[in-house]
Amino acid sequence: MPPDSDYQLVLLANGAFSVRSLAYGETMHPGIGPAAEAETLYVNQLRLRERRAASAGEFVVWDVGLGAAANATAVLRATREIPGRLRLASFENTTAPLAFALQHQAELLSLADYETPLRAMLTSGQARFRDGRQEVEWTLTVADFPAWLAEVVPTVAPPPPHAILFDPFSPAKNPAMWTLDVFTRLFRRLDPQRPCSLATYSRSTMTRAALLLAGFFVGAGEATGTKEETTIAANTLDLLARPLDGRWLERARRSDSAEPLGEAVYRRMPLSEANWKRLREHQQFRNVR
Ligand SMILES: C[S@@+](CC[C@H](N)C(=O)[O-])C[C@H]1O[C@@H](n2cnc3c(N)ncnc32)[C@H](O)[C@@H]1O
Repeated sequence: MPPDSDYQLVLLANGAFSVRSLAYGETMHPGIGPAAEAETLYVNQLRLRERRAASAGEFVVWDVGLGAAANATAVLRATREIPGRLRLASFENTTAPLAFALQHQAELLSLADYETPLRAMLTSGQARFRDGRQEVEWTLTVADFPAWLAEVVPTVAPPPPHAILFDPFSPAKNPAMWTLDVFTRLFRRLDPQRPCSLATYSRSTMTRAALLLAGFFVGAGEATGTKEETTIAANTLDLLARPLDGRWLERARRSDSAEPLGEAVYRRMPLSEANWKRLREHQQFRNVR
């Protein structure tokens, strides 16, 4: 795991600061900056305000890759004036980026309101607090997420999510987080009776194919900053504004990089015959056969 010195502040073109991991050679939220990207890509696309407001009981968000906590704090800020209960379950394999971010709050402005619970994440991995009109229970699981998915029994895991912020580093640099196995195990953690959507910045064919083969419905997401399109997946079609269609399926068939990652090693390959057959038979494409 990288030590604190493996992180640095980066000033983006629009004047916002973000955190860069030297070990991965990647900047978190590189396009429009942490607060704006968290709001556009995750809060708005997953319709978190409306869905939190409409949920009768606890609304559960899984924050995969807590990092410098821009996504987590964006969710809190967006929902704080809605009466009710939020359960935020963050996952990370190192608290180093959060510790680094807390040392640089003057630049990473979005953290200021949540310094106390963020410090609790570092020390105990849990916090319960009232935020505006909302009761929040926040936990941080510090673990290798793929191993956690494979090993931890549902009875001791956070409740199944209504929304997932899926924000590891890129498939090329962080392939262990983007395998078909990870998405399959993640899908199995969902409650079929609880509508759940997942947003991620990757729009790659191999990521979308992996999500589909894992059992999700998959749609195109909005542009954010430098990304012309992102991805939304869900366990029910109603949560997708623009489901992938037959044209996407045809492009995937011809793509030289559509086969999901089978192991934690990045490579590009066309779809195998077996996965092409499974994709074609996916419920989402029922009307295009
Ligand atoms: C792009 S950054 C997340 C940025 C963060 N969501 C934010 O809003 O500041 C990706 C994060 O994924 C974490 N990560 C990478 N591999 C992981 C793994 N195997 N298990 C858990 N977390 C992992 C990294 O440590 C890193 O903090």
